[in-house]
Amino acid sequence: MKITGRTAVYGIIGYPVKHSLSPLMQTSAFQELGLDAVYVPFEVPPENLEDAVKGLRALSVRGFNVTVPHKEKVAQLVDYLTEDAEILGAVNTVKNEGGELTGYNTDAEGFLRSLIEEGVELEGKRALMFGAGGAARAVGYALLKGGVKFLNIVNRSFSKAKKMAEILGRRGNVLVYPLKEGTVEALLKDADIIVNTTSVGMKEGDPQLFDYSKIPSGITVVDIIYNPPQTPLLKAAKEKGCKTINGLGMLVHQGAVAFEIWTGKKAPVEKMKKVLEEELYGSV
Ligand code: ATR
Repeated sequence: MKITGRTAVYGIIGYPVKHSLSPLMQTSAFQELGLDAVYVPFEVPPENLEDAVKGLRALSVRGFNVTVPHKEKVAQLVDYLTEDAEILGAVNTVKNEGGELTGYNTDAEGFLRSLIEEGVELEGKRALMFGAGGAARAVGYALLKGGVKFLNIVNRSFSKAKKMAEILGRRGNVLVYPLKEGTVEALLKDADIIVNTTSVGMKEGDPQLFDYSKIPSGITVVDIIYNPPQTPLLKAAKEKGCKTINGLGMLVHQGAVAFEIWTGKKAPVEKMKKVLEEELYGSV
């Protein structure tokens, strides 16, 4: 590739940032469209975040992604926030226009696009979501935005779930429950779509989040984990004849939305997905 004085610079800030797949994905997108742009990782410890954002602005970096643990703090450091970013209180994408920074959150939109791509209809459906962390907030918001009739949230820490429901509850019918066998069993009977946003299933030997033999057959089961590509939850759901979706689509689409915000061009989603699949799962 040829870097010149005109090459546009993009990047990602996080701590750590070494494991981020965004540099690979965004670089492949720029190359696919023949854009004169680069995308680089910046490891920024929390104590340097303010200076880093000032620096990115001063250096005319055109745009950047924001990952853990900076998403909430960056929402305080930009000049403008989109509605999604403001509601979620978190920014994962920033666009720099002549030194003015706008903070976006593409996680919710990315999640919705990944469901649309799989032909999932949310309107009027009853959703059951596990987890109450940062990812859960974006996913829960997306489910409500997508038109679910009820959103039931189950989390190990009940107080955390309650706090999150206070925010999401303004946008629809949201109820929270503790992670208890009998409670979950009853909720499962009523669910059209189940979404796992917890980290359970990421590591080999993780216990089941709940009794997976109780998953109703034929519903939609989504796990936002993308590695492994098929968590024990998705495997059990598949055996029950459910439609199963992993987190790769959300990862790709949150990046695709960011790419479109920065460049104004349609993201090469298939290419982006392919490079990630090769990186994560080997040649496919
Ligand atoms: P993220 O930003 O990726 O969502 P997080 O904020 O650390 O990450 O949230 C992790 C989620 O996984 C939480 O909902 C957490 O439950 P608690 O709020 O009770 O901590 C959930 N989680 C992690 N390990 C879990 C386990 N062993 N059993 C049940 N839930 C678990």
